Amino acid sequence: MVVRPWSPADLDACLGVVAGLPDFFTPDVAGQVAMDLGRHRGWVIADGGEVVGFAVAAARGSRGAEMLWAAVEASRRGQGLGTRLLGRVLDDLAAGGVRVVLAKTLDGSAGYPPYEATRAFWEGRGFVQVDTIDPLPGWQPGNPSAIYVAALGPTR
Ligand SMILES: CC(C)(COP(=O)(O)OP(=O)(O)OC[C@H]1O[C@@H](n2cnc3c(N)ncnc32)[C@H](O)[C@@H]1OP(=O)(O)O)[C@@H](O)C(=O)NCCC(=O)NCCS
Repeated sequence: MVVRPWSPADLDACLGVVAGLPDFFTPDVAGQVAMDLGRHRGWVIADGGEVVGFAVAAARGSRGAEMLWAAVEASRRGQGLGTRLLGRVLDDLAAGGVRVVLAKTLDGSAGYPPYEATRAFWEGRGFVQVDTIDPLPGWQPGNPSAIYVAALGPTR
């Protein structure tokens, strides 16, 4: 299992991961992921050459970043791959001077069970929920956004 920077040859595999998670990603997400992979930093986790997960992070100023996407192939969730992928992403961001990382996901008040595991994932990896915003600009109404942050280093 290897985590490495994304390359354009990985695009179809990443979109395949997205397509395999219909409880999490609406059909329009594939286009957004493709666009974001083209303009932000991406990483993949691969098993013997097969891409089984990916993550995308955007710079937010010189010392901030936002996790835009993180996904692991449906049949391989809960086996530590996401943790390994995120660990590499955060290490790389920290090495580039990033101190604070933001992640937005569906808030618990939405009452949608699939995202309970997603919030547990972020919380178990050091992300702290600091706000809930509804409606969040750009998100469909009725999808309260949980705002998570994690510190990678001191800011003061
Ligand atoms: C979120 C995601 C990237 C995490 O990757 P992963 O490989 O499943 O995660 P890991 O196995 O490394 O971590 C497991 C943790 O996540 C949670 N988790 C992951 N899958 C779970 C599942 N099927 N059921 C319950 N909890 C789960 C648990 O809290 C678990 O913590 P623990 O190991 O301390 O018990 C992946 O599950 C995924 O693609 N989910 C669907 C898409 C998604 O929600 N993406 C994030 C959008 S903001």
